[in-house]
Amino acid sequence: MSVSRRSFVLAGAATLLASPVRAQTYPDRPITVVVPFAAGGPTDIVARIVSEHMSRTLGQQMIVENVGGAGGTTGMVRVAQAAPDGYTIGVGNMGTQSAAPALYPNLKYDPATSFDQIGVANNTPMVIIARKETPAKDLAEFIAYLKANIQKISYGHAGVGSISHVVGMVFSAQTGLKPALVAYRGTGPALNDLVAGKIDFMIDQALNNIPQIQAGTIRSYAVTAPARLDVIKDVPTTKEAGMPEFTANAWNAVVAPKGLAGPVRDKLVAALNKALDDPAIQKRYADLGSTAPQGADQGPAALQKLVETDMARLTPILKAAAATAQ
Ligand code: MLT
Repeated sequence: MSVSRRSFVLAGAATLLASPVRAQTYPDRPITVVVPFAAGGPTDIVARIVSEHMSRTLGQQMIVENVGGAGGTTGMVRVAQAAPDGYTIGVGNMGTQSAAPALYPNLKYDPATSFDQIGVANNTPMVIIARKETPAKDLAEFIAYLKANIQKISYGHAGVGSISHVVGMVFSAQTGLKPALVAYRGTGPALNDLVAGKIDFMIDQALNNIPQIQAGTIRSYAVTAPARLDVIKDVPTTKEAGMPEFTANAWNAVVAPKGLAGPVRDKLVAALNKALDDPAIQKRYADLGSTAPQGADQGPAALQKLVETDMARLTPILKAAAATAQ
């Protein structure tokens, strides 16, 4: 008994002694980037844009692994429970990192305390989109169309607690409309079904649907931003379209399991900030109606503040919306 306890103590001391050295040589093997939604959707797009750049800065491969399910919370549990060695990180979003606690009473992580925050990776408004054959020409006509046909209308989202789900809940609370909800492992596959006419509408991150709006394969009724987006200039804001209360800014963020060694966290933060400062990344984002946080909006403190502010803001809204949904 005493021998094994002693070896445990010695092993612990060795780990402590070795970690600064390991932190200095970090990263010396590939880093896994957990995306908690299906490939091809907004979180996946952001993760691939930033990790490709960070990988060049860090001199190591970054391998994106899509772990979908339960509105992104399955993947984020995986990140929260991984070893805090910098070799498993994750890209969460406003849903997994701020909305989910209001909708999952037994959530196995706390977005404010279970992670080392690395930084916000992007900001993007949402767009109200519908299948191409929808007869309404503007948002007022679209809402009238939904009201007249609500028994057969379906709404696609990325699982309970995802951004598309919670924004849909708020839309339902504001309009009194309760479409049939169809859950996917991400809005990438949901958008494919919208294009194919298998579901009727979605409210999804601009980042995911701008190419389809530009190609005319879906209809778009309003952007949830204070101003129109340059890349889809014809699409009005929700304020212009008659729903001024319906606004939303979605964000994605890079996080790691709690307990990273300081130098490891600093390398990840610096690599993400370098990506966000690169005009090439900013242009890629702008083409997708999205923006890269700059200056004081970058880094762990800004993300921690955003997580806490959005959790405090969203929790009462979602609890009230969940009550009216029943
Ligand atoms: C969401 O609705 O939370 C995201 O758009 C899901 C995704 O990234 O696929």
